[in-house]
Amino acid sequence: MSEERNVTVLVAVQAPEEEAAAVTVLGAQSQVTVARRLAELTELLAAAEAGAGTVAVVSGDLPGLDRDAVARLRGAGLRVVVVQDAALSAARLAWLGADVVVAGGDAENLVAAVRGDGPDPAAPVVPAPADRGSDRPGAIVAVWGPAGSPGRTTTAIELAAALAGVGAAAPRRTGLLRRSRPVPPPHGSSTVLLADADTYASSVTSRLGLLDDAPGLAAAARAAGQGNLDVVTLAGHSPVVLPGVRVLTGITRASRWPELPASSLDLVFQRCRELAAWTVVDCGPVLEADELLMYDTRAPQRNGATLSALQAADVVVVVGAADPVGLQRLVRGLEDLRDAAVPVPAARVVVVNRVRAAAVGRRAEAQVRDALARYGGVGDAHVVPDDPAGLDAALLAGRVLAECAPASPARAAFEALADRVRELVPAPV
Ligand SMILES: Nc1ncnc2c1ncn2[C@@H]1O[C@H](COP(=O)(O)OP(=O)(O)OP(=O)(O)O)[C@@H](O)[C@H]1O
Ligand SMILES: [Mg+2]
Repeated sequence: MSEERNVTVLVAVQAPEEEAAAVTVLGAQSQVTVARRLAELTELLAAAEAGAGTVAVVSGDLPGLDRDAVARLRGAGLRVVVVQDAALSAARLAWLGADVVVAGGDAENLVAAVRGDGPDPAAPVVPAPADRGSDRPGAIVAVWGPAGSPGRTTTAIELAAALAGVGAAAPRRTGLLRRSRPVPPPHGSSTVLLADADTYASSVTSRLGLLDDAPGLAAAARAAGQGNLDVVTLAGHSPVVLPGVRVLTGITRASRWPELPASSLDLVFQRCRELAAWTVVDCGPVLEADELLMYDTRAPQRNGATLSALQAADVVVVVGAADPVGLQRLVRGLEDLRDAAVPVPAARVVVVNRVRAAAVGRRAEAQVRDALARYGGVGDAHVVPDDPAGLDAALLAGRVLAECAPASPARAAFEALADRVRELVPAPV
């Protein structure tokens, strides 16, 4: 038995007889107070955020209850006890991310759950989902870099193509495309999922010549928030656009960023590991969590998508531009990454992009390596040459370098980057 604590309960249970039973049972316990009975999720959230309770007892089928709502309740400091209706699937309840799920009508376990005594192992209780990392067939590579367009999207796209083994002659496939020429993926290649999580200036859609359609990543996030994101659904939102490469397209307008909440994306990235050997995420440039908003647990965070990807990542590719301003931002960016609002435990690969003598002087590569070693403590930067001919051709055609400029020096550098990523995280499947 745990020590007795004062517990204040907010009850938002749908069925009137179940609500009455819960209130009666809980009200009879010492040091348990039923503070409020609430009919709707919005009232529950408001009460929770006003500090009116320490535990929420909530029906699994309360309208609007999703993973994000449970995360908000927990963010407001409440234990979340979900009362399970027999008609709801255990999987959906587990996806909600509650602290504990108790079968409706099971008074004994309800009391134990509210007190935080832990469930009776014999009881029909659905465990909350395991933390990220318990089941990782695929790897996540977050491509991040400071502001100033250093080449995050270019790196993410080319890295995805290289990891998938897209060859020079590889034509592309499917529905979202303006130009489609169906062909199977190269033999022996890995499946790669390219996700556009830039909430400031998403560009994967136009860079790959895709139709500006419904954003796949937002649709996947929505499904995840509702507890409905299985691998089949995720695959439905991520069409194959190159042999072996699926794409979760980004938001079509920057103002749609609230459609990519971190609590849902955490689940999306977890599912991505089941769908693809590699998930490459194009992140936005800004890392701050808005501290004022952190007190308002209802407010989504603008940079939540980037932080979610960085936290989930097995490898973080940090991209900086090879000019005096870009290198300075890169050094500061590496510091920012160390101090990010979430832990980012992944291995880092620093990429310096568009290396050219015109911007840093003679022996450009050596200059860049020197500067990074001296000011950023980075001794093993990966260098990508400036290649306007190759990248402009790719931009114009909406293709990757392997398709339209196979001999490009930048392509060779991105292929070498893929090798380096493979060394850090051996091929997962
Ligand atoms: N190695 C390179 N050589 C020549 N041009 C490049 C190279 N890498 C990227 N570019 C070009 O630089 C521009 C910016 O690249 P990109 O869109 O990848 O940057 P970003 O960091 O994603 O920018 P944003 O801030 O818009 O997200 C693009 O026009 C791209 O084609
Ligand atoms: Mg970009």
